Amino acid sequence: MNAKALDLRRQGIDVIALTAGEPDFDTPQHVKDAACRALAEGKTKYTPPAGIPELREALARKFKRENGLDYQPDQITVGAGGKGVLYNLFQAVLDPGDEVIILAPFWVSYSAQVELAAGVPVIVRSSAESGFIPDLEDVAAAVSPRTKAMIVNSPSNPTGAVYPPELLRGLAELAAKHGFFLVSDEIYEHLIYEGEHFSPGLVAPEWTITVNGVAKTYAMTGWRIGYAAGPKEIISAMTKIQGQSVTHPTSFAQWATISALESPESLSFIESSRAAFRRRRDFFAKGLNELGLPTNLPHGAFYVMPNVSVIDPDELKAAEIMLEEARVVVVPGTDFVAPGHVRMSYATSDENLEKALERLAKIV
Ligand SMILES: Cc1ncc(COP(=O)(O)O)c(C=O)c1O
Repeated sequence: MNAKALDLRRQGIDVIALTAGEPDFDTPQHVKDAACRALAEGKTKYTPPAGIPELREALARKFKRENGLDYQPDQITVGAGGKGVLYNLFQAVLDPGDEVIILAPFWVSYSAQVELAAGVPVIVRSSAESGFIPDLEDVAAAVSPRTKAMIVNSPSNPTGAVYPPELLRGLAELAAKHGFFLVSDEIYEHLIYEGEHFSPGLVAPEWTITVNGVAKTYAMTGWRIGYAAGPKEIISAMTKIQGQSVTHPTSFAQWATISALESPESLSFIESSRAAFRRRRDFFAKGLNELGLPTNLPHGAFYVMPNVSVIDPDELKAAEIMLEEARVVVVPGTDFVAPGHVRMSYATSDENLEKALERLAKIV
């Protein structure tokens, strides 16, 4: 869809892309200043593969302050984005044929990364009617003697669903009972509009690997800083893999991350981006429902997942029609395992969202 959209743009046609997986705000100035200071001070050399100790100490404080989790710096590894950290994790823990439970609709990199490590994704579906919240019994039924891990992502990309704490608690208890890893991807933790974030690492610390990053919270997608915390032997295996691949993420981006995590200005940045996303979500989800594209009101992240069957029952075809006839680019739900749905990101200007609704009204 993106390639088609770029093609249309090259021909001078105005297309509205609702495909962004990143905040449309700029990285806060104090974070950029911290990176410049690190450069000026010559902090431009190799760092330890797990990341600089100062950052791992700041992350241990972050986990305690924001999530109530007790991790020591040697239980934390810093990687090239949440994606880089997840890649290292699956390479570290999976043997060929090991199964990983993935709760659909899911972020497509999960299944791809599991397969790259010769693992087998086992998909558990959830429906729009349940708000894309999985059923604990369905998840329990998917556990087998080959289950090595389960990935939980709340708030979720692509659905924006925020799982209730009791479900997260149940999933953590399931992992502990059967002895598999619960990979908790908490990258959207600060973008919650209703409900509260809950870290399953509080329930089963010995089985949970908590994954996070600065991309979405601090509008730092291009800086490529993510991190994971969990049992020491898993974290150190992940760091070994990183040490023989990318070595470590960029030195001055690590120093800047300390400022993102600990500067008081970051709090007001998070507040204002959350308020902007919330306003856009309310406007856009309401607009889509009024158009006749049934859409849940997601409680977190910056995506909505309308049902687009009225345009075409095949979501791929519906996305093509939206592009060709309305000049609106969306991501079909096919790869997320969300038939009949598309993902739309509202991490774009209010003006773009208004225009997108006007254009979609014409084709619906
Ligand atoms: C659910 C989820 N996890 C992890 C990531 C990885 O983010 P990054 O590698 O930029 O830190 C993303 C990015 O889109 C995501 O949506």
